[in-house]
Amino acid sequence: EQTGHAEKYVAAIDQGTTSSRCIIFDHRGAIVAADQREHRQIFPRPGWVEHDAAEIWSKVQAVVAGALAKAGLRAGQLSALGITNQRETTVLWDRATGKPVHNAIVWQDTRTAALCHELGGADGQDRFREATGLPLASYFSGPKAAWLLDHVPGLRTRAERGDIAFGTIDSWLIWNLTGGTDGGVHVTDVTNAGRTMLMNLRTLQWDPAILSAMNVPEAVLPEIRSSAEVYGTAVGRLAGVPVASALGDQQAAVFGQACYDAGTAKNTYGTGSFLLLNTGGRPVPSKNGLLTTMGYKIGDEAPVYCLEGSIAITGALVQWFRDQLGIIRSADEIETLAGSVDDNGGAYVVPAFSGLYAPHWRSDARGVITGLTRYVTKAHLARAVLEATSWQTREVVDAMYQDSGVAITTLKVDGGMTGNHLLMQHQADVLGVPVIRPKVSETTCLGAAYAAGLATGVWSGLDELTSHWQRDVEWSPRMEARERDREYRNWRKAVERSFGWDE
Ligand code: G3P
Repeated sequence: EQTGHAEKYVAAIDQGTTSSRCIIFDHRGAIVAADQREHRQIFPRPGWVEHDAAEIWSKVQAVVAGALAKAGLRAGQLSALGITNQRETTVLWDRATGKPVHNAIVWQDTRTAALCHELGGADGQDRFREATGLPLASYFSGPKAAWLLDHVPGLRTRAERGDIAFGTIDSWLIWNLTGGTDGGVHVTDVTNAGRTMLMNLRTLQWDPAILSAMNVPEAVLPEIRSSAEVYGTAVGRLAGVPVASALGDQQAAVFGQACYDAGTAKNTYGTGSFLLLNTGGRPVPSKNGLLTTMGYKIGDEAPVYCLEGSIAITGALVQWFRDQLGIIRSADEIETLAGSVDDNGGAYVVPAFSGLYAPHWRSDARGVITGLTRYVTKAHLARAVLEATSWQTREVVDAMYQDSGVAITTLKVDGGMTGNHLLMQHQADVLGVPVIRPKVSETTCLGAAYAAGLATGVWSGLDELTSHWQRDVEWSPRMEARERDREYRNWRKAVERSFGWDE
């Protein structure tokens, strides 16, 4: 019973690359309860990454139940449910049976690299950039859908008949939450649709010319809606709860970090890192390797756009250092090891494990370690591993400045790696601006909850949400400009060395 302000709760589902989470927030934006479960990573061949969408749906149901139980709440006490998700990951399912027709192809999967090259033709990588804001790269969903339609026997005919549904993970979850084969709604939001490479950034509709160039039949596509509106009502365990927001995870973090004004930016440090700068009501084209992308669209209000620097590998490099090299046993140990020396000893690690994303977009790049001498120890390498994250971020920040003329004066950060003080200090040092982490560092779920709460009247507007934001830790730059410039030159030389490797 929602008799007073204090009884309003909003749940958010964050379906990420490695795990699914459900967090329940109260009306002040504080966490009431959280639950999380991992799902399988399927690697059928080098460069291929798949997920089982049916497994993801069952993990999502489990974390929703888990969070409600921990909070001691019933579904009827939730004012709204918001969805946020790993972006670009592509699912095709049978509308009649509700079953996926193939494993989902994950954003990191590189199987469409040749297809993307072919699609570029004489125009090259930027063929669809004007319409979509994106370069042709294996990262995005449209070519992944085309690949499935061409490789699963008989699928294209079924798709053209209207029997098959396409979705990014938001669509897949909303369809299932609202009834699946029994009347589920087939929708997506502008932030997710914008990463298919099939949506026109200005009309916010599917672009017929691109659909035909990529050979994706319109019959498979969901309807594109805003990021904050009631798409439908949940059935099953969440029966009666309005499903009221959908945002790609990085855009949700923008929203949860209260980056509502043009010129504000956040960087989320997870598997990779994604730095988004709010550019206000107009899409700013990039000439320096960034993506022009949606920020969010609240109901009928005008859309907000962002420039994005997507870095594929940051936290995943620490995992590699732990799991493949075995130099540390837990990810946390890297800070102690790196802290046992004063500098990187001349070593740089460029983690171009599946090419380099922003600002380079080089599929021919592979990882390199440079500057090795007999002096270099595992502690220096640990430092170089952490520094790879801050230098990649620096490259993206420079590109932002060149594209937008906006010099970032502070950087709001969130995500797992922000618990690493040595890294955050180095980040502030190499950017030359303060780095700030908020009290609620679960900004992705928070952003999805905020959008769902706005759509259902839990919160009055962006001013109220901004008033929730509180600073937790701030790191100020300490490095001398001369040292910073010398280190940056060395980093860029190391990046050059990562280019030009054959398959
Ligand atoms: O574009 C990919 C991004 O949305 C993935 O984020 O946090 O699930 O690794 P994450």
